[in-house]
Amino acid sequence: MATIEYVLGDITEQEVDVIVNAANSSLLGGGGVDGAIHRKGGPEILADCRKLRAGHYGGGLKTGQAVATTAGKLKARWVVHTVGPVWSATEDRSPLLADCHRNALRVAADLGARTIAFPAISTGIYRWPIEDAARIARAAVEDSELDLIRFVLFDQRSYDAFARP
Ligand code: APR
Repeated sequence: MATIEYVLGDITEQEVDVIVNAANSSLLGGGGVDGAIHRKGGPEILADCRKLRAGHYGGGLKTGQAVATTAGKLKARWVVHTVGPVWSATEDRSPLLADCHRNALRVAADLGARTIAFPAISTGIYRWPIEDAARIARAAVEDSELDLIRFVLFDQRSYDAFARP
């Protein structure tokens, strides 16, 4: 049974086996947490992403899928990139957001990782309401076999939404 914890902070500073990136399907970087991870982790991460795009992920990473690369200069062993769904008011994409968490956990477990840090996937540029994202994320990770799952929230409102009892 994993310990689940919530911290207010910067995911690029976390000392865990796996840092999860809220990427986009191109895997070639972006803004938000994606930008921060590439900026702090350095060019090795992008080089690994480019290899993935040249190989099995020629068409890019599908929403809900997850794939691992080196963590470069970050205090982690791997970055697991996942593509969150863009919020839709007309279509229920919540299973895809749950898939991001479950697939990231599966990829991490397959690597032998024991500790993992998640950002609040899809709640920035992809506009998912934070309270609903917190509900989906918490439910998706509750039966994980890893030792530690840390949600790293970047602002107080997100922290309050995730950490509420
Ligand atoms: N540490 C932790 N959380 C962060 C950090 C950070 N350094 N920087 C941003 N965040 C938070 C945001 O405040 C938001 O709550 O991560 C959450 C996810 O926001 P985004 O990074 O915008 O990710 P998302 O909403 O999933 O949109 C993905 O944005 O960056 C691009 O390339 C990415 O196209 C993709 C899209």
